Amino acid sequence: MQDIWHFPRTELTKKLTNAIRYNIIHSFTLFAPRRIGKTYFLNYDLKPALDELGYKTIYFSFADQIGNHLQQFKNSLASNIDRTIFAKLKVKEISFPWCKVVISQNTPFADLSILELLSILAHEAEKRSSQIVLMLDEIQELIYVDNAEGFVGELRTALDLNKNYVKVIFTGSSRYGLRKMFSDNKAPFFHFGTSLKMEPFGREFTDFLAKTYHSITGKHIDEEQFYQIFSKLNFVTLSIREFLSFYMMCQDISLEDAYKGFEAEIFDKNGYVSYWNSLIQAEKILLLGLVNNFQNFYSEKFYDFVFHNYHIEITQGRVQNALNKLLKQGDIHENDNGEYEIEDLFMKRWLESRKDEPGIV
Ligand SMILES: Nc1ncnc2c1ncn2[C@@H]1O[C@H](COP(=O)(O)OP(=O)(O)OP(=O)(O)O)[C@@H](O)[C@H]1O
Ligand SMILES: [Mg+2]
Repeated sequence: MQDIWHFPRTELTKKLTNAIRYNIIHSFTLFAPRRIGKTYFLNYDLKPALDELGYKTIYFSFADQIGNHLQQFKNSLASNIDRTIFAKLKVKEISFPWCKVVISQNTPFADLSILELLSILAHEAEKRSSQIVLMLDEIQELIYVDNAEGFVGELRTALDLNKNYVKVIFTGSSRYGLRKMFSDNKAPFFHFGTSLKMEPFGREFTDFLAKTYHSITGKHIDEEQFYQIFSKLNFVTLSIREFLSFYMMCQDISLEDAYKGFEAEIFDKNGYVSYWNSLIQAEKILLLGLVNNFQNFYSEKFYDFVFHNYHIEITQGRVQNALNKLLKQGDIHENDNGEYEIEDLFMKRWLESRKDEPGIV
């Protein structure tokens, strides 16, 4: 589907397509915070570019699956196998050094193993003198799936053995999850592939949106002010687009006022009050520590702050449990500088605006 607001990531597209075309790397991890545009990039930039070069792309998101992730993934691979090519070539059996697959008219492909499925797809690509690019979105979701280790190990072996014909791009946003999967010495994807950081857009993006807005409505947006709002929104692509939609629905209102209305609407819509009430005391204290610029939650200074402001004596054990839980739930993450951050920017803003209210804990 066309999107009139699409701002192409030309350089990143070129970098990736070149790396694939010239066989430089067979596996990448595209890594960016939430809502920056990873999924959008795969579908709106990379896929069309690869299609044009004659690659077959298979997109699969581990985040959207309900039920058995492994089976869904196999179904997706199976649905991409072109039976006609085997019929045409009268292929009845394919032998690989690592497996042999018998193919009949009604072979239930979805029952095969990942290694068999990827090997068949690789074989098919070879026959077409082409290659397959697997786009595996939100791979880190697998760490929440029971017994995922076997699946991940199998996937890695299958990709390794078929790397001449199957390239793979992983994406992920949960740094905690990705780190677990890609950097942990014991994780099967350790050292598998190169990681690329997808940078948030800068001024060029808001200027482009303002220009598009002008071409649609004939009205001007103050580009500097608009960029400042993007900066307030932490350069999150989705948020500035949502803000623009909100602004377009307002009648003759300044950007500033529209921003205030937008933020208030989000606070309300996201139900931060009930989220806050669902937290236990130690979790609340940790989040309040973060908006008060604390990072070391085991320091005397932090315990003094908690006692002084909330009259609570907190223990190291409780702090540690709360920290682990918030990290695991993705409510907070560690940024590239190793600092803890609240994941949801608006939640952070909401808490900042209420942190000194009596009875907040
Ligand atoms: N290049 C772009 N041009 C215009 N809008 C974009 C672009 N990239 C992303 N967006 C907007 O940002 C939204 C969020 O993008 P997307 O869903 O791809 O983010 P994501 O990084 O995959 O997020 P998540 O971490 O939730 O999976 C898109 O729905 C789209 O509105
Ligand atoms: Mg996504």
